[in-house]
Parts: sequence; C-alpha cells; structure tokens
Amino acid sequence: MYDFKPDASLDTAELYRQLCDAADALTQGEPDAVANMANVAALIWEFVPDLNWAGFYRMGANAAGEDELVLGPFVGRPACIRIPVGQGVCGTAAADATTQLVEDVHAFPGHIACDAASESEVVVPIVRNGKVVAIIDCDSPTKARFSQGDADGLEKLALLLSDRV
Ligand code: SME
Repeated sequence: MYDFKPDASLDTAELYRQLCDAADALTQGEPDAVANMANVAALIWEFVPDLNWAGFYRMGANAAGEDELVLGPFVGRPACIRIPVGQGVCGTAAADATTQLVEDVHAFPGHIACDAASESEVVVPIVRNGKVVAIIDCDSPTKARFSQGDADGLEKLALLLSDRV
C-alpha cells in the first residue's frame, strides 16, 4: 500500500518537493508509461488542493499521421480524447513547448471546455530529446488558482518524468 499524506499547511515549494519525491519513488525503474502517468495523476490529485481535473495528454497522431494530443491517465470527469497541436490550452503548450498558466480559462482564445466547472488551468509540457512527448494538465474550479509556484513545481515534475512517460 502506498500512503502519501500531504500536509495541508505545506507551502507551495515544499508541497511540490514532496510530490516530486513521491512521484520519483513510484515511477523509478518502472518502464510502463501508462502505469507511471496513472500513479502520478493520482498523486497530483492527492497533493494539490482545489482541482477538478489532473492528468496527462500524450503526443500521438491523427489519421493523417500528424502530431495530435491524445488523452492519457487522469483523475476527474471524462475529457476530450484528442486535441490538435496548437488548439486550446493543452495544444498551445504542446505547440510552443512552454507552460501555460491561465488565470481565467474563459478569456483564453480557443480554450476547450472539458468540464464546465473549470475556471483556471495550468499546462506543462514534458519534453524528451527536444520533442514534446506529453503534457501535464491541471484544472481548478477557482479562478486564478495556480501561481508561478505551481508552474515551477509542475515543471520539476515534468523534468523528472521526461524519460518515464
Ligand atoms: N482545457 C483544455 C482541454 C483539456 S481539459 O481541461 C481536461 C484545453 O483547452 O486544452
């Protein structure tokens, strides 16, 4: 049994330090990407307060063989399965290989609403050998829920996972 008990009073940097330690312990030596993403989605859900969705999209291909994001393991409501690169918050993070910190999803051009409860969102690319291989997506029902500290913490997690997903 894995029993990670995040302390609700942790500051953001310490919370993500502990989350990364737990993710490292759970994924180290495990070659199965889906298993690793499933466990890390569950960890994000346990550690990060005030979320309504946490999970992954992986880089796959559309019918024409072009890059396209495909839904991966997550916690939350069922979500859109495929997101073209360049569309929505996730597709923008994938296209630009940059973190998207969105205070108000309704103000983001092309935002894709998978859960009507979502008000803010942070999306971080996972890069391997210079290519985006997946993204981490967290949604919150609270406007401006995510800070630069959340983005920094999730970027550390993305780095840790770059050769494990
Ligand atoms: N809102 C995202 C879509 C994914 S869901 O939030 C899970 C976007 O605009 O790309």
